[in-house]
Amino acid sequence: MSIERVFVIGAGLMGHGIAQVSAVAGKQVTLSDRTEELAEKGAARIAGNLKRQVDRGTLDQAVASAIIDRISTSEGTDRAAGHDIVIEAVFEDESVKRQTWEALTKSADGTAIFASNTSSISITGLATSTDRPARFIGLHFFSPVPVMGLIEIIRGLETDDATHAAARAFAEELGKTVIESKDYPGFLVNRMLGPFINEAVFALMESTGTAEDIDTGAKLGLNHPMGPLELSDFIGNDVMLNVMDVLYRGFGDPKFRAAPLLRQMVTAGHLGRKSGRGFYRYDEQGKKAG
Ligand SMILES: NC(=O)c1ccc[n+]([C@@H]2O[C@H](COP(=O)([O-])OP(=O)(O)OC[C@H]3O[C@@H](n4cnc5c(N)ncnc54)[C@H](O)[C@@H]3O)[C@@H](O)[C@H]2O)c1
Repeated sequence: MSIERVFVIGAGLMGHGIAQVSAVAGKQVTLSDRTEELAEKGAARIAGNLKRQVDRGTLDQAVASAIIDRISTSEGTDRAAGHDIVIEAVFEDESVKRQTWEALTKSADGTAIFASNTSSISITGLATSTDRPARFIGLHFFSPVPVMGLIEIIRGLETDDATHAAARAFAEELGKTVIESKDYPGFLVNRMLGPFINEAVFALMESTGTAEDIDTGAKLGLNHPMGPLELSDFIGNDVMLNVMDVLYRGFGDPKFRAAPLLRQMVTAGHLGRKSGRGFYRYDEQGKKAG
C-alpha cells in the first residue's frame, strides 16, 4: 500500500514539521488542530521555514509554492476521511491521545493506517483506543523534523506486517533513516538519552563537577554536539523528568530513578530554555545568558 494522502492531527512543534516533510516528499497533506486558527498557525510556520530556504537560495520559489499548495488545514478530526495515513502529534497526555484516536476511528477510512508520534506512551496501549490495533504503529520523529534524519518505528504487539512495511516505506520516502524498536518504555533513543542526562544531573547534584565542566566533558570528550545539561534545558527539564518516570514505572528498575535535583528544578519551574531558566539562564530569544 502506497501512502499519498496524509492527515496530521496536532499542528504544534512536531506536527507542523511532519506536515512539512510529507509535503516536501510530494504527499497531499491535511494539517489539523483543535481550532482552524491553530492549524493555520502550523501552516504559517511551514511557510516561514520554506521562505527562509528561498531567501538563502537553497529552494526555488516555485517549488516552495508547490509544497505549500499541497497542504490544507482543518479543525478537529472530522476531515480525516480520504487519507491513507493519520499521524497523531497532539499533547503527550494519554487521555488526550486516547480521546483523539477514538474520534479518528469514527471519521477516518477503515483502511487508513494510524501512526502516533508519542515519545513515551505505549503504542500497544494507544492502539486499543481504536478499531484497528493491527494497523496502528509508532512513527517517532525527532525535533526539528525537517533537519533531523531519524525516524524510530515502533511496532505494537498487534501491528501487522503490511502496516509495518507501508509505514517504513513512507518514512524512507520522507528521506529519513529508520531504526526499529520494540514497544518497551522509552523505545531506543529516549531509553539511552534519559539515563545519560539523568546521570549528568546526579553528578551536578553531588558537586562532582560544574554544569559547564559536565557539558564541556561531553562535548570535547565524547564528541557530542551539546552537553547533557544544555540538551536537557533545550528539550525541557519537565520532558526529561517525564522520560525518567516512564522508564522507572515501565521497567520497575531503580537504575531509572530520576535525580532528585531534576525533580526539584521542575517543581521550581526551572524548565530550561522555554522558561528562561534551567541549568543555565536564557534571554528572551532563548540564547544562553549565563
Ligand atoms: N518536542 C519534541 O522534541 C518531540 C520529539 C518527538 C516526539 N514528540 C511528541 O510529539 C507530540 C507532540 O509534541 P509537540 O512538541 O509537537 O507538542 P506541541 O505542544 O508543540 O503541539 C501539540 C499540538 O497538539 C494540539 N492538540 C492538543 N490536543 C489536541 C486535540 N485534542 N486535537 C487536536 N489537536 C490537539 C495542540 O493544540 C498543539 O498545537 C507529543 O506526543 C510528543 O511527545 C515531541
